[in-house]
Amino acid sequence: MRYVVTGAAGFVGSHLAQALLEEGHDVVGVDCFTDYYDPAEKEENARGLDMRRLDLAEEPLDLGGVDGVFHLAAQAGVRSFGDVFPLYVRRNLIATQRVLEACVQANVRVVLASSSSVYGEAEAYPTPEDTRPRPISPYGITKLGCEQLAYAYRADAVVLRYFTVYGPRQRPDMFFRRVCESLLAGEPFEIYGSGEQSRSFTYVGDAVAATAAAMERAPAGAVYNVGGGDEASMLEAIGLLEQISGRELDVRHVGAAQGDVSRTKADVTRIRAALGWEPRMPLRDGLEAMWSWASARVAAG
Ligand SMILES: NC(=O)c1ccc[n+]([C@@H]2O[C@H](COP(=O)([O-])OP(=O)(O)OC[C@H]3O[C@@H](n4cnc5c(N)ncnc54)[C@H](O)[C@@H]3O)[C@@H](O)[C@H]2O)c1
Repeated sequence: MRYVVTGAAGFVGSHLAQALLEEGHDVVGVDCFTDYYDPAEKEENARGLDMRRLDLAEEPLDLGGVDGVFHLAAQAGVRSFGDVFPLYVRRNLIATQRVLEACVQANVRVVLASSSSVYGEAEAYPTPEDTRPRPISPYGITKLGCEQLAYAYRADAVVLRYFTVYGPRQRPDMFFRRVCESLLAGEPFEIYGSGEQSRSFTYVGDAVAATAAAMERAPAGAVYNVGGGDEASMLEAIGLLEQISGRELDVRHVGAAQGDVSRTKADVTRIRAALGWEPRMPLRDGLEAMWSWASARVAAG
């Protein structure tokens, strides 16, 4: 198959593109290398991929000869309201509307990366997909808008709501990455709120497997949670990383962050039944992989 992966220079997209290549598919990566975090890191992620540098919010996406699109390009990060709001609108809503337009015209399936952030403070835990979405961040609001666009376009689309993905190449603004880097630098770590917030942490390899399966065999219009099996609090996860690294983290508590929910816990009954997918990587093993990657990176300078 010939696939387009948008956001292929990013954390999850680069893993997905590589996994598809390893399965023998042709892959074209698309990314505009935004400066949300160091573009040099994205260059590293994209090394070896056939990349098209284009901004999906304004440049055309050519889908000639393409069998499917994995749309992962986005403005991620849940915390900011205020001045950055237009970036969420542009990189999530406008870019996705244009990707959908191209996919519908070319009659090509699209798998859309959405997020557990659409649930906000969820009404039920574990959270099934038909829970009323009530996002509390510009990120969650625009991601929900992307889902609604796919529905309105009647696109051959599958929506995946990823729950906090982690592993090698995790974005530098994300929790585990920040913990690893503070441990490696011997610096204090600022945690938002009490640290009792918990998450269904999802290993990147598991997220990639769900994403490929969705393209291959999900019914059009399906919406699935993609979430790890082990729910852990931030403090529990820090404890695991301290054990793995043999180091102690100097944790400082700062005020709770706006847009940050207190809990996520995925109900994955639907995707298990439909696609036979379930999370496989135990949190401890996934964190070991992440720690090895982060320490090798620091050692390499
Ligand atoms: N990482 C997670 O925990 C997580 C959780 C839920 C959902 N998601 C979703 O998964 C996807 C991948 O997330 P990630 O963590 O890999 O993020 P990332 O920031 O590492 O990757 C996103 C990529 O999209 C690119 N991009 C942004 N706007 C673009 C545009 N207009 N045109 C072309 N490229 C553009 C960026 O340059 C970046 O490389 C996103 O859609 C995100 O919303 C991620």
